[in-house]
Amino acid sequence: MMNVPTTIDLNNPPVLRGKRIYLKELRPSDVNAAYCRWMNDPGVNQYLESRFQPATEKSIKRFVQGVLDDPNSCLFGIRLRENDEHIGNIKIGPITLRHYLAEVGILIGEKRLWGKGYASEALNLLIEFAFNGLKLHKLSAGCYSVHESSFSLFTKSGFEVDGVRKQHWFSQGKYVDGILFGLINPMHRKQEKQDWK
Ligand SMILES: CC(C)(COP(=O)(O)OP(=O)(O)OC[C@H]1O[C@@H](n2cnc3c(N)ncnc32)[C@H](O)[C@@H]1OP(=O)(O)O)[C@@H](O)C(=O)NCCC(=O)NCCS
Repeated sequence: MMNVPTTIDLNNPPVLRGKRIYLKELRPSDVNAAYCRWMNDPGVNQYLESRFQPATEKSIKRFVQGVLDDPNSCLFGIRLRENDEHIGNIKIGPITLRHYLAEVGILIGEKRLWGKGYASEALNLLIEFAFNGLKLHKLSAGCYSVHESSFSLFTKSGFEVDGVRKQHWFSQGKYVDGILFGLINPMHRKQEKQDWK
């Protein structure tokens, strides 16, 4: 659930429909064995902080309920239109309404479906929702510098590198940089240039 002044009912966020996928708010009853498998798969979780604790259906249900109860976040399941298969998640939040700013995180859990543009399609649906529906000013995201597909995903969708946190994460035996991305609502861009130096 989210708590943003908008004409959209955020206690019941809309289903966001794309060409091949749709995004629908996730509920604890959507958590199944496949979702649990993704979260414990080292191929999937290698760049996620969740990797440090084994996931169970119970712990994931608790997480999903927690986001549902959080008025400043919304977790959407990413589903294929052709058969309703749940293939991953995309989250908006926390939203810091004072700044019209929100974090974004994404996961395609089914590895066989990586590289097919599903994450790009989901991210573009969420961007449209954030800027045109919720009227936010900026979206923010992050990834490990070595995570190529994540880097391409965000830059391809228009995110720019806002900053680099040097040797911020310990990953596979070495310290890697953390990349911070930002995407400003294109309708607000004329405010972008600021003389702060
Ligand atoms: C990162 C992730 C969401 C990408 O999902 P995806 O559905 O494969 O992404 P897309 O198919 O939309 O591709 C996005 C971009 O990544 C590129 N890409 C995909 N797989 C790649 C790979 N193995 N190596 C390099 N680039 C890759 C695509 O080519 C595309 O960029 P391009 O259009 O410039 O070529 C997915 O790998 C994932 O969920 N990983 C596990 C969870 C995770 O780490 N999430 C991100 C946390 S920041």
